[in-house]
Amino acid sequence: MILRLAVTGLGAIMAVAAALADPPELPRGRGDACVAPTDVMRREHMDFLLHQRDRTVHEGIRTARFSLSGCVDCHVQQNVDGSYIPVDAPEQFCDTCHRYASVKLDCFECHATTPSTGLSALAPGARDFAGILSFGGGPRPRPAGE
Ligand code: HEC
Ligand code: HEC
Ligand code: HEC
Repeated sequence: MILRLAVTGLGAIMAVAAALADPPELPRGRGDACVAPTDVMRREHMDFLLHQRDRTVHEGIRTARFSLSGCVDCHVQQNVDGSYIPVDAPEQFCDTCHRYASVKLDCFECHATTPSTGLSALAPGARDFAGILSFGGGPRPRPAGE
C-alpha cells in the first residue's frame, strides 16, 4: 500500500509539496474581507459563481453577493496611471491559480475583465446574447425585416 502510493503517487505528492513550498502569489483584494471566508472562497468560488449564474440566467434572480462583476471590482489591479489591468491577464488575480492548476475559463469572453456596472459589465457581443434571452426587460428591438 505504502509502496504503491510511493510509486503511483510520487509525482502528485511532489507537485503538492512544490505547491505548498511555492504557492502562487496573489494580489490582495480590496477591502477587509471577501464575500465569504477566504478559505471557503479558495475552495468553493467556482460553485458560488456557477450557481449564481444559473439563478440569474434561468430564474432571473439577481443578487450582488456572488456577482462576477463584484469579483472584478475588488480583485482588479491598476497600473500606475490608474488604468485597470484585466483580472484574467497573466499574473493577475483570476489567472494566477488557474494557470497553475490548468483551468481554462470562457467567462471573460462575455463578462468584462475590468470594473463597470450593470449590463455594460458584459462585453459588447454578450449584450446581443442577453437580448436574445430577453434579459433586462423584454425582447431586443429588431430592425424591420429581421
Ligand atoms: C456567451 C456569453 C457568456 C459566457 C461565456 C458566460 N456568461 Fe455569465 N452571463 C452572460 C449573460 C448574458 C448573463 C445575464 C446578465 C444579466 O442578465 O444580468 C450572465 C450572467 C452571469 C451571472 C449572474 C450575473 C452576476 O454577475 O451576478 C454570473 C455570476 C455569471 N454570468 C457567471 C459566469 C461565469 C462564472 C462564466 C464562466 C464559467 C460565465 N458567466 C460565462 C453571458 C455569458
Ligand atoms: C468587497 C471586495 C471583494 C469582493 C466583492 C470579492 N472579493 Fe475575493 N477577496 C477579497 C479580499 C479582501 C480577499 C483577501 C481576504 C484575506 O486575505 O483574508 C479575498 C480573497 C479571495 C480569494 C482567496 C485568495 C487567496 O488568498 O487564496 C478568492 C479565491 C476570491 N477572493 C475570489 C473571489 C470571487 C470569485 C469573487 C466574486 C464572487 C470575490 N472574490 C469577490 C475581496 C473581495
Ligand atoms: C486561490 C486560487 C484561485 C483564485 C485566486 C481564483 N481561482 Fe477560480 N479556480 C481555482 C481552481 C483550483 C479551480 C478548479 C477547481 C476544480 O477543478 O475543482 C478554479 C475554477 C474556477 C471556475 C470553474 C471553471 C470550470 O469550468 O469549472 C470558475 C468559474 C472560476 N474558477 C472563477 C474564478 C474567478 C472569476 C476568479 C477571479 C475573481 C478566480 N476564479 C480566482 C482557483 C482559483
